[in-house]
Amino acid sequence: MKVKNTVDVTVRKEVSETTYTEVARDDRLLPQIYDYLDTEKQFSRALFFYEAGLQQIMAKLEILNREFQYGNDRNPIESVKGRVKSEQSIVEKMKKKGLPMTISAMMSNIYDIAGVRVICPFISDVYQVARMLLSQKDISLVTMKDYIKQPKENGYRSLHLIVLVDVFFSEQMQKIPVEIQLRSIAMNCWASTEHQLRYKKDHVLTDDMQKELKRCAELMAEADQIMQELATDLLKED
Ligand code: GTP
Ligand code: MG
Repeated sequence: MKVKNTVDVTVRKEVSETTYTEVARDDRLLPQIYDYLDTEKQFSRALFFYEAGLQQIMAKLEILNREFQYGNDRNPIESVKGRVKSEQSIVEKMKKKGLPMTISAMMSNIYDIAGVRVICPFISDVYQVARMLLSQKDISLVTMKDYIKQPKENGYRSLHLIVLVDVFFSEQMQKIPVEIQLRSIAMNCWASTEHQLRYKKDHVLTDDMQKELKRCAELMAEADQIMQELATDLLKED
């Protein structure tokens, strides 16, 4: 069987060109009154918005997951995990970006406070799940980074979406940013193990080690392509 170099599936014909800064001017976004809110309590209140956005996306994925479990179709979702970024990581990221320590700077510049990771069996499932989410009217795409079509220099592969999801509160609707990372099981295997190696602070990865890791990513990608070919052949008759 011939293995193709790439799987030709596109999430959307036109990808939104809107940058986050433009979107942040939309006054349906999180209220700017948080500018004065530098107390611990107000910070927790701001994080509550992100928790709500996260819950909304998790609920959507859970519905898709359950729908596939009940139907006869194969399930394109293997697992879903979500988290709100810890206060410490938010502060570290803001320092790294040289941002003022205000809640409004956080809200306008940090897009991955609510984060969801979706693991799918096959590469085509990654794009299928992304398409299902993006076709929903209460989700709008801010940015998409396709590290599957264009892997990072170190070999990292995943599809990253930053979306705004509508959440209804007692008095108003807010558009909450959520980062959604979608990857295949093989991509996740590489990313999880690479993360463990890289984040051991007392371990320095030499150039040779990085090359070896990249080779592993390429082996995973080749396996993904072969599995995709098998899936395309075997599952189309279902
Ligand atoms: P961040 O400042 O980390 O958010 O980077 P960014 O804004 O350039 O976003 P990018 O889409 O490149 O990466 C965001 C997230 O993807 C990271 O927080 C990780 O969860 C994941 N990621 C990106 N690159 C790598 C990588 O090389 N290895 C692993 N294991 N994960 C990665
Ligand atoms: Mg991040």
